[in-house]
Amino acid sequence: MSERDMKMCARIVLVIGCFSSSGDNGTIDGQGDLWWQQFHKKKLKYTRPYLIEIMHSDQIQISNLTLVNSPTWNIHPVYSSNILIQGITILAPVTSPNTDGINPDSCTNTRIEDTYIVSGDDCIAVKSGWDEYGIKYGMPTKQLIIRRLTCISPYSAAIALGSEMSGGIQDVRAHEITAINTESGVRIKTGVGRGGYVKDIYVKGMNLHTMKMVFWITGNYGSHPDNHYDPKAFPEIKGINYRDVVAENVSMVARFEGISGDPFTGICISNATIGMAKKAKKYPWTCTDVEGITSGVVPPPCNLLPDQGLEKIGMCDLPSESLAIDNIELQRCSYSMNTLM
Ligand SMILES: *[C@@H]1O[C@H](CO)[C@@H](O)[C@H](O)[C@H]1NC(C)=O
Ligand SMILES: *[C@@H]1O[C@H](CO)[C@@H](O)[C@H](O)[C@H]1NC(C)=O
Ligand SMILES: *[C@@H]1O[C@H](CO)[C@@H](O)[C@H](O)[C@H]1NC(C)=O
Ligand SMILES: *[C@@H]1O[C@H](CO)[C@@H](O)[C@H](O)[C@H]1NC(C)=O
Repeated sequence: MSERDMKMCARIVLVIGCFSSSGDNGTIDGQGDLWWQQFHKKKLKYTRPYLIEIMHSDQIQISNLTLVNSPTWNIHPVYSSNILIQGITILAPVTSPNTDGINPDSCTNTRIEDTYIVSGDDCIAVKSGWDEYGIKYGMPTKQLIIRRLTCISPYSAAIALGSEMSGGIQDVRAHEITAINTESGVRIKTGVGRGGYVKDIYVKGMNLHTMKMVFWITGNYGSHPDNHYDPKAFPEIKGINYRDVVAENVSMVARFEGISGDPFTGICISNATIGMAKKAKKYPWTCTDVEGITSGVVPPPCNLLPDQGLEKIGMCDLPSESLAIDNIELQRCSYSMNTLM
């Protein structure tokens, strides 16, 4: 790829009303290797392209495709709604930089299902804007369903919420998550300056094997776009529910780090059985500035999340109403060249 090609690539952005792609499991090869090398050498003059980016769109379906070697993020729907992503295989070397799988970003009503992702960054990363810019734009990601995800990502999370979450993230429902040799399960990343919120998160059914941490919430994630962030912009982290978790060969159960003066509240874990690795950390839980409850959790949780017993409090919450996107059926793709011309 020439310098000119790289410049062109970096600028290709799709801005369309309705995007529909169903690939019969065809492959799109992002030829990321050159980009990763230049990135590692700090020689890049251009932003790396995403493999598929959809902006300001409604009614999108992307299905039955294999994406390999993206220069950076693979699928990035942003400022969009009613999105169905189904039957996608994403493959990138586990050491490739920032090759996130799917990044719903300031999107409403999204369903991601039956995906298999091997990548060098978070398999799915939910976003909504960065510090003062995200706060000003104020467009959350909400009503997101993720189900039947299989993830391999040794240095990142199966599902990350943030770190760019300044427009807010609300009502995420993740079911049937399988992760193997992955750093953590569903991770929240935030910090002072982000503002925004992450709330009403419901995770049910995680099957995990060989993990550094099952649960990880980070309140001191740095990484600011510039120095103009508001040091008083505290994020609100509230109502984070995990249930039915089975994990094996884990180094540490949980690392929960809230923010001093801004505790993360309403954390709930129920019915979780975590099998520790032979060389596990001495303290399986570390918790600071968090509040919540647990029931039926092994090994026993930290003092800030006391185990009240399944008989007494039952399971963590699940929403009672289903979402509109829950039952939308995939449409067969069809078009004729005439209508495109
Ligand atoms: C799609 O293709 C990939 C790569 O060849 C393969 O690993 C995957 O199993 C295929 N998926 C389906 C549903 O056929
Ligand atoms: C606890 O989780 C396991 C594994 O997901 C599941 O099979 C079991 O039904 C759950 N128990 C209850 C009481 O729901
Ligand atoms: C358990 O995890 C360690 C890394 O912490 C890994 O080296 C080892 O292969 C894993 N064992 C099994 C049985 O998967
Ligand atoms: C995608 O593949 C699945 C399984 O082969 C098939 O049932 C479905 O109809 C395909 N979707 C589209 C939109 O072609």
